[in-house]
Amino acid sequence: MGSRKIFVTVLFFQLLSSVACISRSDFPSSFLFGTATSSYQIEGAYLEGNKSLSNWDVFSHLPGTIKDGKNGDIADDHYHRYMEDIKLMHDLGVNSYRFSISWSRVLPRGRFGDVNAVGIEYYNRLINALLLRGIQPFVTLNHFDIPQELEDRYGSWLSPQIREDFGHFAEVCFKEFGDRVKFWITFNEPNMFVEQAYKLGKYPPAHCSQPYGNCSTGDSETEPYVAAHNIILSHATAVDIYRKAYQVKQGGSIGIVASSKWYEPLTNSTADRLAVERALAVEAPWILDPILLGDYPPQMLEILGSRLPTFTIEEKKLLLNKLDFIGINHYASNYVKDCMFSSCDSDGYDRDALLVTTGYKDGQLIGDLTALPTFYAVPRGMEKMVLYIMERYDNKPMYITENGYAQETEGASTDELINDTERIKFISSYLTYLSSAISKGADVRGYFFWSLIDNFEWAFGYTIRFGLIHVDFQTQKRTPKLSAKWYKKFLSSEKLQLKTKYLRHEV
Ligand code: BGC
Repeated sequence: MGSRKIFVTVLFFQLLSSVACISRSDFPSSFLFGTATSSYQIEGAYLEGNKSLSNWDVFSHLPGTIKDGKNGDIADDHYHRYMEDIKLMHDLGVNSYRFSISWSRVLPRGRFGDVNAVGIEYYNRLINALLLRGIQPFVTLNHFDIPQELEDRYGSWLSPQIREDFGHFAEVCFKEFGDRVKFWITFNEPNMFVEQAYKLGKYPPAHCSQPYGNCSTGDSETEPYVAAHNIILSHATAVDIYRKAYQVKQGGSIGIVASSKWYEPLTNSTADRLAVERALAVEAPWILDPILLGDYPPQMLEILGSRLPTFTIEEKKLLLNKLDFIGINHYASNYVKDCMFSSCDSDGYDRDALLVTTGYKDGQLIGDLTALPTFYAVPRGMEKMVLYIMERYDNKPMYITENGYAQETEGASTDELINDTERIKFISSYLTYLSSAISKGADVRGYFFWSLIDNFEWAFGYTIRFGLIHVDFQTQKRTPKLSAKWYKKFLSSEKLQLKTKYLRHEV
């Protein structure tokens, strides 16, 4: 063994003993522990099996859209290597897996064409192989990718027509897979998605206007809110279909996932504390309040006025309580400074919410830097976010559907990427705060680490890595990172402890 290897091994076991004060048995035994991915980020095979082009296929081929000029044509080649990836999951010891279905693989032309039998067959094979290994499929219907035809025909999320299309897509999936899939997510992070797609122009269809961004078309002031409105109503349409025709027979549950940063006031001033309320409103409450509390959050109604579409009485009825669980993607925390009473320059939602977010207070960072700007790692933010959601929504069942650590690839050797001690620190400390929230009564029922494998990180291409498993994108070779070993060890700790107890009992 080389001295570097010895050093890393020693460090790994030191880390296990120093930070792994958290164990599987700190969570309920029925708790789902999994990993997460999404179709466009891992599948590849973008022209195979009668699949049509998705909005991301088209967008990522346009010059200047992706940081490294790459795309998801091959990505992790998971479409062909899913058995190998399931084996890796099985080795980790997870009992669930969150993945998404590519709409353009299942319905290449949306409701304007037929169901694609090859696409259905692919997901059937994937689902069956997972179940055979005791891994629960936790399925997202939409994780940013849609058939391009829906964009070209009627402008996708900007048109109410999308509700019918999404309802049709959801129903095909319930019908084909619902006998085995017991957990459905309609949408992944509509709040984050519409900011990138319709305010900043960084995701397809790349709409925006000045001063938010520089695009050839769009209106950053209103379009994000219209798109989210149609997404929320599409969600309600799908849940309505599920509840009326499938849920009783199939016995599953359905929810939606919101992206949820945590915010702390920059100072103790009332203005900064109110700004935190506004910052939080455009996170999960934007999506969840209309479903669980009857309308958009008061802060959004107040600051956006007529820029925010309104729900009709029928729509409010359709929306009410249309979810069985809340999915939360939580990665980071930021400070918030008010801009309502003092002038400052801000971007994105911050500009709309009259505030500015930052990672620094008096020159000190709120948490550890990661490879994604604004993704400051602040483990205690996990507990605060979970308790906030618990209180706001009367302790509705919750799943942490994503949490993960962004690793910079620039200047990093493969060895360094694989020996990801920072990621171990990240997971173990976030899980510690999650378990603390559960001990305070939060009904959290699962945790999915983002991500199973390094993959296509949207506008960042392959320049940032989130995986527990390292992928060499030239050869597609998978190598479990140190963090994968940590997760495996963590997941088996209950078994280890049980075994010890059992042995003692025997003695
Ligand atoms: C998304 C993932 C993404 C991850 C890391 C989430 O916003 O759901 O698709 O890869 O964050 O940026």
